[in-house]
Amino acid sequence: MKFFVDTADTDEIRDLANTGLVDGVTTNPSLVAKSGRKFLDVVEEICTIVDGPISAEVTATDYETMLKEGQKLAALAPNIAVKVPLTANGLKTCKALSDAGTMVNVTLCFSPGQAILAAKAGAAFISPFVGRLDDISTDGMHLIADICQIYSNYESFETEVLVASIRNPMHLIEAARMGAGVATLPPSVLRQLYKHPLTEAGLEAFLSDWKGTGQSILDD
Ligand code: E4P
Repeated sequence: MKFFVDTADTDEIRDLANTGLVDGVTTNPSLVAKSGRKFLDVVEEICTIVDGPISAEVTATDYETMLKEGQKLAALAPNIAVKVPLTANGLKTCKALSDAGTMVNVTLCFSPGQAILAAKAGAAFISPFVGRLDDISTDGMHLIADICQIYSNYESFETEVLVASIRNPMHLIEAARMGAGVATLPPSVLRQLYKHPLTEAGLEAFLSDWKGTGQSILDD
């Protein structure tokens, strides 16, 4: 399973990339607005930090401008995945960019039918948003299960399921259980994954007992 980080904060990305666990990055217009920086500067910087796919989203809604924006973003670095919303024009743009060899991440997916359309349009990634479905009292993880099952029925569908809008470690664990290929994690959730009280208590006990022996691995 690949881990992407869901942020436009380059300090966070650098810090997390140092763990060796980060395979890509997703951004969206809200995350870029939160960074307070110029979009293209942020994206170019992220591409120097992480080698894997970096999602950068178009902001036009008409096909011609979406395509132009997508081409401009794709030209920034070879690892750009142009992000388009799941609209008719977004999917048309997805098809054109994918046919030209550009990775496309189709975002704002909330139904299995939408995911089928994205796969047919040649998307490299489909981003179903689990947290936002949970927010409206709908089971977000059920959507992931549906899409994973449907995609596995068709060899011609090469689109990877990129689980998005993850809010907690359980979303990630359930997505892994379902065999989703990618999860995009807010930095806080990636850090939460390390934590277990028994790990912390166990380590404290080991280190205290070790101290009592007076030994040192490097000095002995
Ligand atoms: C995915 O690419 C999106 O940027 C993201 O996961 C949205 O998450 P949110 O619902 O927490 O804003």
